[in-house]
Amino acid sequence: MSVFILLNCKTFDEGTGENAVKLAEACREVAQSAGVEIAIAPQIPDIYRTAKSVDIPVFSQHVDGAGPGSHTGAIYAKAIKEAGAAGSLINHSERRLTLADIESAAAALKKNKMSSVICVNNVSTAAAAAAFNPTYVAIEPPELIGSGISVSKANPDIITDSVDAAARINPHVKVLCGAGISQGEDLKVAVELGAKGVLLASGIVKADDPKGALYNLVSLI
Ligand code: G3P
Repeated sequence: MSVFILLNCKTFDEGTGENAVKLAEACREVAQSAGVEIAIAPQIPDIYRTAKSVDIPVFSQHVDGAGPGSHTGAIYAKAIKEAGAAGSLINHSERRLTLADIESAAAALKKNKMSSVICVNNVSTAAAAAAFNPTYVAIEPPELIGSGISVSKANPDIITDSVDAAARINPHVKVLCGAGISQGEDLKVAVELGAKGVLLASGIVKADDPKGALYNLVSLI
């Protein structure tokens, strides 16, 4: 079964700087041993060091739609690609964008042949995001983010409804889910509900033993 796991380091100290590289090394070991794809999204200044050190897909936590030119402070898709990023999150609940900004960020990634993960907070925005033809739409109920309560147990309907809504708009788009995911059962149920993988953060990044937590995560697939 092909499952995609994306570990978001956010701004946790446990995922900052060299810690991002250590987490990426754990992701690589577990991905190889379990035969799943595990990518990591460190902070933007850590993309280069992570991508240089570890051979797994590295994602940015944010990207702008800016092209080359006079856009001081913008996160330019080409620059993160040259730093080693394979793709980016767009519109995370902790980094909300306007619809126009989501569209231009997705277009900038596509132009650079990079993967896009548009995060959404409900079923109707999942449908809207699917219209932009990203690689993935990731449904994450904001109230469950960082809660330790898994979306696949607490709100399974939001996963199935998002999968259906996205497919009605764009049959090619794949749906991920996230929020409170940490255990093998959370991932297994998410996949049974139609998700192609998960987006997760605190359950792994802040675990006493992140590698052990990753092995647990993939233990039932
Ligand atoms: O980007 C993933 C995220 O928002 C979920 O966070 O800590 O609930 O796994 P967490």
